[in-house]
Amino acid sequence: MKPIENYSLRNLNTFGLNASARYYASAESLDELRELVEWAKKHRLPLLPLGGGSNILLKDDYPGLVIAINLGGIESLPFGENKRILRAGAGVEWHDLVLFALKNELGGIENLSLIPGKTGAAPIQNIGAYGVELKDVFYELEALDTLQNEILHFNARDCRFAYRDSYFKNEGKGRYIITSVSLKLTAARDYKLNLSYGGIRQKLDEMGVGEAGIRDVSDAVIRIRKEKLPDPSVTGNAGSFFKNPEITKPEFERLLAAHPDIPHFRLDSGRIKIPAAWLIDRCGWKGRKVGRAATHHRQALVLVNTGGADAEEILYLAEMIRKDVEKKFGIALTPEVNII
Ligand code: EPU
Repeated sequence: MKPIENYSLRNLNTFGLNASARYYASAESLDELRELVEWAKKHRLPLLPLGGGSNILLKDDYPGLVIAINLGGIESLPFGENKRILRAGAGVEWHDLVLFALKNELGGIENLSLIPGKTGAAPIQNIGAYGVELKDVFYELEALDTLQNEILHFNARDCRFAYRDSYFKNEGKGRYIITSVSLKLTAARDYKLNLSYGGIRQKLDEMGVGEAGIRDVSDAVIRIRKEKLPDPSVTGNAGSFFKNPEITKPEFERLLAAHPDIPHFRLDSGRIKIPAAWLIDRCGWKGRKVGRAATHHRQALVLVNTGGADAEEILYLAEMIRKDVEKKFGIALTPEVNII
């Protein structure tokens, strides 16, 4: 299988940026993936595994081999009395895995409905939404170690999950290609729904749902997401552009004195998480457009490509926002999106 030269990545990143890959190939099986990794090594080219392209900002053309990870398949294996392990190929669309779980009456990932992207990318940033993170249901993953050319297993501890973070964004960065992800889900009849995010209960009430099941929660989350977040197939974006900052108690006390209405969330670590969207909104950035980049009118944390923007325009807007938030609140925002 020969990689294609000078391949446009425009349709492979949800920001819709017009970058290209020096070489591009799709891996539909583990053998193909190994072959492509060897090919890149032989030609001394860097490698970029690509899932749904929904959490990246391509700054430039990629000088090496981009491999679209298209390993499919979902397997369901029994685990104890009322659980099952769902093992999905890294190329399975994340939401398809959610639908599979719902169809099989398995609870655990309904709050993570409609997150764009593929399953293999989910552990890298420990995807999370509406009170649940991937780590809450994670069992193990398999990854190709591109240095040793062997498949390794990683359990939850090996992955060192944290808020939008894992081993694969730190020490393990660039070395492994995740090939499958296994989740431990619970039979819906024995499963306790997670309704900790206030908006879900409110949405269920609006929907007229009294006693909710996993499907209702999934529907509620889908409605909330559709109301707040731009659809990447219509408007280029990569979800939240920055992480929600976590600050120390003394820093928080100082902020609270100046901004008594600041929304906040106390973490077990003693630190306090502040919604970046609120900080950005308070700086007057919500819905503002600079060139062809803008912040979303319903969610200030989401940067959008209003049509034909290039990476510089988005990064310029991000930098202006970062500077303003730093100046007004003394908080340094860090990107959640992977800038490549
Ligand atoms: N808010 C504003 N202005 C806005 C939007 C929000 O002031 O324009 C304030 C409100 O006080 C709101 C708070 O910010 O209560 C939090 O907003 P929201 O519930 O929309 O969530 P978020 O903290 O902005 C995070 C995740 C999202 C995830 C939602 C729901 C991060 C970086 N983002 O956003 O994940 O969907 O919670 O759980 O943690 C993503 O990672 O790409 C993503 C979309």
